Formats: sequence, structure tokens, C-alpha cells
Amino acid sequence: MTARTGLAFRILASTFLTLGTALAPAAAQEPFRIGLIIPLTGGQASTGKQLDNAVKLYMRQHGDVVAGRKIEVIVRDDSANPDTAKRLAQELIVNDGVQLIAGFGITPAALAAAPLATQAKIPEIVMLAGTSVITERSPYIVRTSFTLAQSSTIIGDWAARSGLKRIVTLTSDYAPGNEALQFFKARFTAGGGEIAEEIKAPLVNPDFAPFLQRVRDAKPDALFVFVPGGQGGNFMRQFSERGLDKAGIKVIGPGDVMDDDLMGGMSDAALGTVTAHMYSAAHDSALNKAFVGAYKAAFGSRPGFVAVGGYDGIHLVYAALKKTGGSGDGDALVAAMKGMAWESPRGPVSIDPDTRDIVQNIYIRKVEKRDGELYNIEFQTFDSVKDPGKGAK
Ligand code: PHB
Repeated sequence: MTARTGLAFRILASTFLTLGTALAPAAAQEPFRIGLIIPLTGGQASTGKQLDNAVKLYMRQHGDVVAGRKIEVIVRDDSANPDTAKRLAQELIVNDGVQLIAGFGITPAALAAAPLATQAKIPEIVMLAGTSVITERSPYIVRTSFTLAQSSTIIGDWAARSGLKRIVTLTSDYAPGNEALQFFKARFTAGGGEIAEEIKAPLVNPDFAPFLQRVRDAKPDALFVFVPGGQGGNFMRQFSERGLDKAGIKVIGPGDVMDDDLMGGMSDAALGTVTAHMYSAAHDSALNKAFVGAYKAAFGSRPGFVAVGGYDGIHLVYAALKKTGGSGDGDALVAAMKGMAWESPRGPVSIDPDTRDIVQNIYIRKVEKRDGELYNIEFQTFDSVKDPGKGAK
């Protein structure tokens, strides 16, 4: 080949290459890879399962191609261990080339991954962890769950308004438990209530029995409880075994203790429990009825608030990718997510453009029986609640 024909060949070849790229169907682009880091083993496994189910359900309903990009979800189990979450995030970003990380069943796991999201400039979608400060740890974090301050302020005001005077608190001894306690206490005592005793239970493998004995002895009007989703079933079993329901002690709190996912296994000791939260499977909307029906048909169980955080999390990713026209650039995706609003199974929601945290209705609910099953029945709604924890410290 002469120099000239060689050059012509190179030009032709490059023309074909350019044409080839331009004409390639959009779906032939690199897939958009998501790393889903969730607890699938250990004490928080039921929450990881809900997140995994919800993401799968959404993708079955909406397909796995968005704006020409095929969506691939790589699921990793962190056992709710922050060091594992961090290592998995690193591997997913470096080895698997994920362009977004999501999931995060507990606050320490969400915090551990935050610097990696910042460094890689990729979004971190927090689908469950609920401590206020999380979204401040990286400009790439967007949350679709809730904060403990959203629910605990509202239940604090409700408790004072309802004439409860002396309350004992029992909270998991880590960041979201401390935040639930702080915000509840501020509102309840401002309304004239008294905290008789503050009890903290360990996060991992908690045995509530000795703490519940102390609660019984203190004879409060009610027990304020925060345990993370996944632990409510065990808590309520020990609560009724110790006879606290018979002693007339009512449970109140943020709604985490009354996760729909576990209510099928709870006894009537749960009846009358009043909590504030963002989701009940009994929420009265056409969209929620369809969601609950589809989730039950797919997985044989009732979705809880954790599943809704996951369902909305993957929805947000789809909606953002549509808005960027399929671009997976982290800055473009986060910009697209800011201010986004949609109807969720929980009701109307949006992403606060300033904080990247979710704005949503908070409902006060009471456990009642419907068709022989326990449900959180909503009786009061607070519209469009922003995280009261931002700037509160
Ligand atoms: C958390 O660790 O932030 C967390 C986990 C589960 C909940 C609430 C908060 O239900």
C-alpha cells in the first residue's frame, strides 16, 4: 500500500467508524450501571429485601431501557456494615464502572460511601437511611426516604396535644435514634410533657426485655420508640411477652417500628399504636392500591415504607436520565433531580433543590384492624414537610 492509498484507507475507515457511532441505535450505548448496596444478611436483612424487591418491581413495570440506555443494577450485600459498604462502593465504582450508587439501609453505611460519591462525581441515592446530616456529606447525595426529624417533631406535638404527660423513651443507640429522641423531646417538653426516663438499646442484636422491664416499672403514660425498620417485629413480640400492653402502656413514635412489612406477624398488642410517618400500605390512593397489589403479587408480602423509598429512588434515577437525554454525567443527573416532583405511593413528593432531601406529607396513623389484618390507618396529614433537621444544630 502506498502512502496515499494508506491515508485514503485510514480516512475511509474513520468515516465508517464515525458513521457507525452516529447510526448505532441508542440502546447499543454503554449500559448505565447502578450499584445497589443494601443489607441482605444480618439483622437488617428484611429492609434490604424490600429495597431489592421494589427496584425489581419498578424495572419490571417500566422496562430496563431509559432514553436509549440499558439499565443494569448490580446488587451487593453490605450486611449493614459501614466498612463493607465503603469497600463495595469503591469496587463498584472502580471495577464495575457504576455511574450511580444507591440503597443504604443504615446511616453509617450511607455516610461511609459519601466521600466516594464526591470523589467519583456520581450520584448516591439514599433509599432508607434517615439521619438529617447525610445529604450534607456530599453534593452528590439525594434522598428518597425521610428524616427522623420529619416524623418525630410531628409525633412530639401530637403527644403533647393529646394530653400525654409522662413518657419514657426507648431508642436505638446510634445517629437516627438520637435524632428521633432529640426532636421528639424538644416538641413534647415545649408542649408541657415530661420525659420520665431515656433508655437506649444497642443497634445490633438488641434484646429489649431488660429495657422493657424498666419501662414497666416507670409506669409512663406512653413509650416513645425508635427502632430501625426490620426490628419492629421483634420489639413488639417482647413488648407483649412482658405484658406492657396489658399494663396499659401505649407505644408511640416515628413509624419505623410499625413497618407494614412486619405487621402480619404482630399480635393485637400493636393495636392502638400511634405513629407519624410517610407511608402506610393502607394509604388511600389509586396509585398506592396498584403498588400494593403489584408488590404482593410479585413477592407474596405487603410493601412497607422501606420498599417505597426504593421504588421512588429508582423512579428518580429513571426520571433524571430521561431529563438528561440518557447522559450519565453525575453533575447533570443531580441537577436534573433537584426540584423534581412526582406522585409516589405515599402521596405527592419532591426533591428540595437546596438540600437534595425529600419533601413529603407526614401522616399520623393509628394501628387498627382491617379485614382481620393490622394496618396503620392515617387520620391526620401534614402537607409537604421539609426536613426540620437542616440547620437545627
Ligand atoms: C438509619 O440507619 O438511618 C435508619 C434505618 C432504618 C430506619 C430509619 C433510619 O427505619
